[in-house]
Amino acid sequence: MSCIKPTPGLIPRFNLDLKFSDLTHGVNSLVKGIKSDLSFVKSIFGETIFFTNSGRVSLYILLKSLRLPKGAKVGVPLYSCTVVFDAILKAGLKPCFIDIDIDNYTLDPKDLEEKISDLDVIIVIHTFGRPADMDLIKNVADGLYIIEDCAHSLFSKYKGEITGKLGDASFFSFAKYISAGEGGMIVINNGGGEEVEKEITSLKSKFYLNELKDALFGYIKSCLYHRPWFGLFAYSLGSNLESRVDIMNKRTFKISKINRISLYIFLRKIKIFKELVERQRMNSFLLTQELKDTHLILPHEKEETYWNYYLFPVRFDNKNERDRVWKSLRKMNVDTARLYSMTPAFARKFYGYSGGCQNSENLSDTVLIIPNYYSLSKDDLMTIAKSVRKVCS
Ligand SMILES: Cc1ncc(COP(=O)(O)O)c(C=O)c1O
Repeated sequence: MSCIKPTPGLIPRFNLDLKFSDLTHGVNSLVKGIKSDLSFVKSIFGETIFFTNSGRVSLYILLKSLRLPKGAKVGVPLYSCTVVFDAILKAGLKPCFIDIDIDNYTLDPKDLEEKISDLDVIIVIHTFGRPADMDLIKNVADGLYIIEDCAHSLFSKYKGEITGKLGDASFFSFAKYISAGEGGMIVINNGGGEEVEKEITSLKSKFYLNELKDALFGYIKSCLYHRPWFGLFAYSLGSNLESRVDIMNKRTFKISKINRISLYIFLRKIKIFKELVERQRMNSFLLTQELKDTHLILPHEKEETYWNYYLFPVRFDNKNERDRVWKSLRKMNVDTARLYSMTPAFARKFYGYSGGCQNSENLSDTVLIIPNYYSLSKDDLMTIAKSVRKVCS
């Protein structure tokens, strides 16, 4: 286990924002047996929604409910988290890797067109909160079933419609932007809800005590993602776990009904979440402005889309430069993430990838995620921008 110098002022790369008041709200609601009020969520996503214990399990359930033959082929962007591929394998299907559009980091309709004849279903990922070009993709898909992965894209919009309502079905993760602990939501837009319901009914419920334990664990994890605890020890713990991420992902594929505490927390947080997304957008615009004179390729919202800016990726010319900046920023108390940098290698080793997604491979080597989240102060943002400018000059 490597040892990293404790730094209490280290700004964490991601925002895990599960507050004590969220935890007590969830636990109280469970203890009192309060009925979950789904009306607000249904007013946004429609009547046919379901919940599971994670985003990955929601995808697994969706795929299973399609009743495809064993080994049927699922088109999925390579530039992604490997748990998406785990869900495909777990459902008895085969991932077929599609490249991404180098400007938007989402599924490339041209590469899809070349591979479409081989596919039985398509997963579109709205990576980092940027909606994929759904019109072009649907055109190419020509009726093939499309699942939107909205793990990153809560409240992002494409041509005026929120993501999750653009494909045949979609799923969300509660563990990410909205920080509601663990959990996932399935949205069905185009039939098939009965089969999903059957699958969900057959899932095991969590024991009451496990629900409490897991919710408490989620809260502690959130505390560890804040200063000073993050730099004092969570960072070095995380770095050691990261090197074993392939094994970890397989271990964490636990399938169950949703933890009811997480559901109560999600239902409460979603009511005010649009305001937080707006705040995060403002932070992102500030960073874009502050970094505009660097040589970095910065995020720029595409026409007719509304990005939730879940993550703020900046792109470098090459891997050496990206890695140098990542290391230097860490020394300046700014933690950043080389997200998906191991995905192509893991995909070759464990998921049958054999090449053909050059943009995804390039991005894995050249993208760095910079903190932009709504809970950062203006001073934090200026510190981040100043540090990036300094190491990039
Ligand atoms: C793009 C994407 N899809 C799906 C998931 C799975 O979400 P969860 O962690 O809730 O299982 C993740 C998370 O790692 C992700 O990044």
